[in-house]
Amino acid sequence: MQEVLPEGAVIRKLWIGETETYREHVRRLDPQSRRNRFGGSVSDSYIDTYLDFSVAGDAVVHGCFIDGVLRGAAELRPLGPDRSREAEAALSVEQRWQSHGVGSALLSRTLLAARNRGVRRLHMACLADNERMQQLARKFDAELSVEFGSVIGEVATSRPTPLSLMRELLADGHGLAAAMLDLQSRLLRGC
Ligand SMILES: CC(C)(COP(=O)(O)OP(=O)(O)OC[C@H]1O[C@@H](n2cnc3c(N)ncnc32)[C@H](O)[C@@H]1OP(=O)(O)O)[C@@H](O)C(=O)NCCC(=O)NCCS
Repeated sequence: MQEVLPEGAVIRKLWIGETETYREHVRRLDPQSRRNRFGGSVSDSYIDTYLDFSVAGDAVVHGCFIDGVLRGAAELRPLGPDRSREAEAALSVEQRWQSHGVGSALLSRTLLAARNRGVRRLHMACLADNERMQQLARKFDAELSVEFGSVIGEVATSRPTPLSLMRELLADGHGLAAAMLDLQSRLLRGC
């Protein structure tokens, strides 16, 4: 799927030590987006506790940085025992940056990461009135079997292939290079 992203956007995995960056992004979500992300209205202290738990686990978090600021994130978290091959995905994009392709790009990376980790069932909790998330999931109906209610999705391709592993490695390398270039150009501009 072709990625069309806002100018200055870089998608990459979050690095160790970027928990505060992730926390600040989630705290910036407007009330409606927070409700959609967490399935109900939640406080800053709930977010803090959730993130401490989430980042301490085995979550793979992809972020979308726009002009160096984390504006969107997608979390892939294993569920149950190792062999269950189930995981949960959750996305968040700040309101100003919604409907600009960020969620699509993040879900695409998350599906690839899930596939490469042998995930067979990917759960995504989505409120019944969350049209945007449902539309987004439908865009990936080749890779997800969509079933609305409390849960969306099953990763259709159960096995990683050398090509899918290579795609993730290339995306990681590209994300690192883009982050370095972005940092360098912002240092040169003095911001
Ligand atoms: C749901 C969410 C992740 C989608 O991210 P996004 O960056 O807005 O999504 P995209 O711009 O990639 O759009 C994806 C699709 O949604 C649909 N869409 C976009 N804007 C829409 C709107 N205002 N209303 C309904 N559908 C919309 C379109 O089909 C779009 O695909 P297209 O542009 O190819 O037609 C984001 O809106 C968000 O973070 N919402 C709050 C938290 C949340 O709901 N999380 C999901 C539960 S885990």
